[in-house]
Amino acid sequence: MASSTVLTPGFSFQLTEEQLAVQAAAREFANSELLPGVIERDELQKFPAEQIKKMGELGFMGMMVDPRYNGGGMDSISYVLAMEEISKIDASASVAMSVNNSLVCWGIEKYGTEEQKQKYLTRLATGEIIGAFCLSEPEAGSDATSQKTTAQDMGDYYLLNGTKNWITNGNSASVYIVIAQTYPEKGHKGINALIVEKGTPGFVVGKKENKLGIRGSDTHSLMFTDVKVPKENRIGEDGFGFKFAMSTLNGGRIGIAAQALGIASGAYELSLKYSKERKAFGKEISQHQAIQFKLAEMATNIDAARLLCLQAAYLKDQHADFTKASAMAKLFASKVAMEVTVEAVQIHGGYGYVKEYHVERLMRDAKITQIYEGTSEIQKIVISREILK
Ligand code: CAA
Repeated sequence: MASSTVLTPGFSFQLTEEQLAVQAAAREFANSELLPGVIERDELQKFPAEQIKKMGELGFMGMMVDPRYNGGGMDSISYVLAMEEISKIDASASVAMSVNNSLVCWGIEKYGTEEQKQKYLTRLATGEIIGAFCLSEPEAGSDATSQKTTAQDMGDYYLLNGTKNWITNGNSASVYIVIAQTYPEKGHKGINALIVEKGTPGFVVGKKENKLGIRGSDTHSLMFTDVKVPKENRIGEDGFGFKFAMSTLNGGRIGIAAQALGIASGAYELSLKYSKERKAFGKEISQHQAIQFKLAEMATNIDAARLLCLQAAYLKDQHADFTKASAMAKLFASKVAMEVTVEAVQIHGGYGYVKEYHVERLMRDAKITQIYEGTSEIQKIVISREILK
């Protein structure tokens, strides 16, 4: 069924009681804890540290982690539902959630040793600490095999040297998964993934990026100069680092797709509400066909994006290959996020262009979903390779 373009067999449109409860809890949290102050945090580039702590306490930072490691033991569908609700209100909080859940926790749980799980995962899963995933470099974004950061094998430790760029949770994290080249002559087969703790001598958090959107998210460059990383902190076999990164990103893309979906549905809900309140030419603007057609198109695209997100999550939960499905979900949902938020600003008119109405922020936040965890162009490479296999 790898090349099928129909919905996956067994996929159900019916959410379980548990999934509905997770969705409701995330919605309640987003409205009561994230909405207050979201405009100020965006303006001041303030990381939602307290809110993330609470999200950890509620189980949103390690949703899919086995309860043995303090996780929520939930499925990926619940994760998509929660990501959508959190992202409707605060995409800066949701990217921290996404990276921690699907890149850091999942990567360590799936490929880490028991010692790594006990030492790191048990704390990452509760949000007591958060993690970062460090693949991108000044000269290696989309072209991820061209890693310049080196991890020289020194016997019982690696000597890490290099720079990472645009790292989400860059300063707030305590644990960093760093991708680095050990055997340059082996190309991507010589790359390793190492767990590096903040505070390790030679590891410096660099400048904070001043961004267009997700301004509450804490994005930094990182510098490593002769950082000694114990061998036991390597994830997987020697040379598994690139495969680790690709495999982890396949799941990460479900999180970002759900984030894009949430940004779109948040902007849509605000637009729908506004269109019933705002009057022009003697009636609510929702009574004008110009607005009705916009709302119809937004709603249709959002539903389609949600189905792709849920399909990718479903396949992941079934332990089926979800590479193509997650890339499709991210490609489509991020496009929808961009289109819907632009239309949301348009529906709000002059009010849409100012901060108080939220939609201008959602429009700025939407753009990154077409860039991080693989640009839209990279998703098309992934999808076409899967189709043509
Ligand atoms: N899943 C599993 N394995 C994969 C894979 C995938 N999606 N894509 C590639 N691989 C494997 C290949 O099978 C291959 O292994 P073998 O040699 O054993 O066959 C190996 O990885 C190398 O692959 P390619 O030969 O295809 O490498 P390439 O250079 O031609 O292209 C790419 C690879 C798909 C373009 C890859 O470089 C890529 O995905 N780039 C985008 C990187 C990215 O997503 N960066 C995001 C940064 S992280 C981030 O944004 C986090 C954050 O903070 C929010």
